[in-house]
Amino acid sequence: MNKKYLITTWGCQMNEHDSEKIEGILNSLGYISTDNKESANLIIYNTCLVRENAELKVYGNLGELKGLKRKNPDLIIAVCGCMMQKEEVRSIIKEKYSHVDLIFGTHNFHKLPELLESYDQKRNMLIDVWNDSPDIVENIPTKRKYDFKAFINIMYGCNNFCSYCIVPYTRGREKSRNPEDILAEAIKLSKEGYKEITLLGQNVNSYGKTLENQVTFAQLLYMLNEIEELERIRFMTSHPKDLSDELIDAIKNCDKVCNHLHLPFQAGSNKILKIMNRKYTKEKYLDLVKKIRKEIPDVSLTTDIIVGFPGETKEDFEETLDVVRKSNFDSAFTFLYSVREGTPAAKMSEQVPDEIKHERFQRLLDTLHPISLKRNKELINREFKVLVEDISKNDDTKLSGRTDTNRLIHFKGNKELISEIVNVRVTDAKTWTLEGEIVE
Ligand code: 5AD
Ligand code: SF4
Repeated sequence: MNKKYLITTWGCQMNEHDSEKIEGILNSLGYISTDNKESANLIIYNTCLVRENAELKVYGNLGELKGLKRKNPDLIIAVCGCMMQKEEVRSIIKEKYSHVDLIFGTHNFHKLPELLESYDQKRNMLIDVWNDSPDIVENIPTKRKYDFKAFINIMYGCNNFCSYCIVPYTRGREKSRNPEDILAEAIKLSKEGYKEITLLGQNVNSYGKTLENQVTFAQLLYMLNEIEELERIRFMTSHPKDLSDELIDAIKNCDKVCNHLHLPFQAGSNKILKIMNRKYTKEKYLDLVKKIRKEIPDVSLTTDIIVGFPGETKEDFEETLDVVRKSNFDSAFTFLYSVREGTPAAKMSEQVPDEIKHERFQRLLDTLHPISLKRNKELINREFKVLVEDISKNDDTKLSGRTDTNRLIHFKGNKELISEIVNVRVTDAKTWTLEGEIVE
């Protein structure tokens, strides 16, 4: 009988895609997936360290597995991902969660078959975490969540060391994948019927710098745009400091590259941006937004914003609101600053009290939401090509999908349309979503 695994993933798209690869590896070993803990032979938690609440959830979930392990001693409990890269976390697990069997990290999950075998021989907690990876490992089997849209890694790691961020410590130094390998993966996927690819990297704008024969991110987009069967190319995340005119031109010129840019600005005050080590100013960011909107008029702009970074005064926060008002973001991911031990910001003395952080956070949302609503309302009566992704979560008579500008839209239609691209006219707009109807 096939062994069963259950995998739970926290965190970003990079983690989600790692989990798709872990699933692919397990399938190749004969495992099948289950969503029932009781019947699983192997439970894997793929963890995130970017903010404290993600970390606490993992500990909570691990605690809950204690009873299950007692009832079923043969169950293997594995924990992997960003949290495991941190020694302190591994010590806590050794001490307080001794029912965990296997710990591995972000750089060696491709070794899972060997790790499972070694664990099987000793049946003692096995810890194997690498600090970085010497090479990029190609051809890891992958079980993708969807059969019409797919993630493709184009680079790993990050060299930016923004002072609040733990990612450079958990994902290692920046490494770009060879363009030939990326192209081969994209061509294979498009031949299998995939319509949309999302290129993943912590800072895709600096793609290519570690390659022997340098290729820029814009050049990579032009190459991918030539793949005939492919319909859409997305990418995440862009760092404002590295966003070139060449890239803006590529988005404009490549018909398959979606009109969407996720361009985190994090904070509006130049003082805070400097301590964050972001390497741009508020003025530069606003100029960039202006240029992008001029060159690509229909572009959808989204961003990430952190509230309550150490030393953020009332005036600094007003600068953040000012950027929000001037940039007309379509939507934004907003975060309360979270202390991450091991980063420079964690040692800064002027931490902002929680109460003030929450108050500012609410003001930020109150500023952002009417702008999103206004942006969405401007789309009423316009027509968009929509990739149909699912049955709508709130109304099972409707379908949901995304425009090329990455807006979620709901509309009536037959579920056989899932995975197809259809024309939809916008009939109504809310802050987060659009309503529409299919047009022939
Ligand atoms: N606290 C709050 N938000 C953070 N991010 C990264 N590190 C932290 C932190 N310590 C946010 C940034 C980044 C997004 C992925 O997570 O906005 O762009
Ligand atoms: Fe973190 Fe900055 Fe790298 Fe993004 S660019 S992963 S925020 S260090």
